[in-house]
Amino acid sequence: MRRFDLISDIHLDFWVKDAHSLWSLNKKIRRFAAQLLPENGSRTLLIAGDLGHSNQQNYMLLKFLKEHYQHIVLVWGNHDYYLSRRRIEDPGGFDSIDRIHEMRQLASQLPGVYCLEGTAVTLDGITYGGCGMWYDLQYGVQVLKSDMNHIFTTWRTVSNDYALIRGKPRYTMDMFKSEQAKLERILTESDVLLTHVSPDWSRVPEGKQLQVSTSFYYFDGAPYFQRIAGKVWCFGHIHHRMDYTMHQCRFINGSLGYPKDNPAGPKRIVSIDI
Ligand SMILES: [Fe+2]
Repeated sequence: MRRFDLISDIHLDFWVKDAHSLWSLNKKIRRFAAQLLPENGSRTLLIAGDLGHSNQQNYMLLKFLKEHYQHIVLVWGNHDYYLSRRRIEDPGGFDSIDRIHEMRQLASQLPGVYCLEGTAVTLDGITYGGCGMWYDLQYGVQVLKSDMNHIFTTWRTVSNDYALIRGKPRYTMDMFKSEQAKLERILTESDVLLTHVSPDWSRVPEGKQLQVSTSFYYFDGAPYFQRIAGKVWCFGHIHHRMDYTMHQCRFINGSLGYPKDNPAGPKRIVSIDI
């Protein structure tokens, strides 16, 4: 039996409010993160994106988790590109890519943490490959039969990805293409695929099926479905846990989500046997 652990969409800054000192912030983060640990965790933790809005907080979280896991494998989620209002309004030039560079740099200080960006790593006999991926708006086109103009205008109106991302990732279709090229690089060799965005819109949560904004949560995975038999595909972005098989591939969402998604307190990291 091979095993790994999975979580995503931690959105740390929604769970832990800033503190008056780094020491007390760190303490709060450790107290929160201890509640996520599973009873019988494995050696490897996968994080399918959306750590949180603050790199400093994210680093403290990874540092704590690294005390409990031999390896942490992660990809970036759309929220990991978000800038604070102050940064968005600052003409100084710091953009979302700078934020990712900084986070990658911080993560590199922790041995055994792997940020997958169209790359793969083999740990205890399992090859994990991944990238954040991005939505392609095709759910709106193919399922809702909506036109691209309408979907795009809705995206600009309602999505925080438009409001809080600056720089290259804001060109959302270019972002999709560059992430897609990364996925292509690792698809064949990976036993476990890790992306933030899901390629499969067959399990849209109840009540979301007819919403145009659902187009911002998936990409069209059809070109890949013939090539994923026997693999496991872990994803997040939708704050809805699920574990099902499609196209002979096991799809797993182990998201945490916001406090409002967890009225009984934070759900634990999921342990997966394959
Ligand atoms: Fe999220």
